[in-house]
Amino acid sequence: MEEMRIKLARAALDARQKAYCPYSHFAVGAAVLVKSGKIYTGCNIENATQGPGVCAERAALYKAVSEGEREFLAIAIAGGPEGREPDGFCPPCGVCRQALAEFCAGEMPVILVKNPEETQVYRLEELFPLAFSMR
Ligand code: THU
Repeated sequence: MEEMRIKLARAALDARQKAYCPYSHFAVGAAVLVKSGKIYTGCNIENATQGPGVCAERAALYKAVSEGEREFLAIAIAGGPEGREPDGFCPPCGVCRQALAEFCAGEMPVILVKNPEETQVYRLEELFPLAFSMR
């Protein structure tokens, strides 16, 4: 478990290098682990007109969902000012919490990453209690 947490943390930090964030200069990377053991990564992708931008978490989650994945075991997230290592933790925004709640169990670990050795782990339901659901 410890090994997997470090692996996911590294994947989120690597994905963060790909962030396209010329407006906020805030780079985020995310890595989701699915039941098969595969890891899908994503970064934030901004847009000149603001609206079409996407967060790293949803980029990673939707990559996985669009490949047919439906069983999620964990997500790691790393974010901070572009061009340097994160100096704090980057909890997911409200929209990403709702998107995660659509596909992930309440007990799923959400791993916030400063560096592979410094992480904070929450359950999704701690970050997003009483999620709206139609299922
Ligand atoms: N962002 C994420 O990718 N994930 C988060 O959890 C918080 C915010 C992105 C959106 C935007 O591109 C930039 O960070 C600043 O808000």
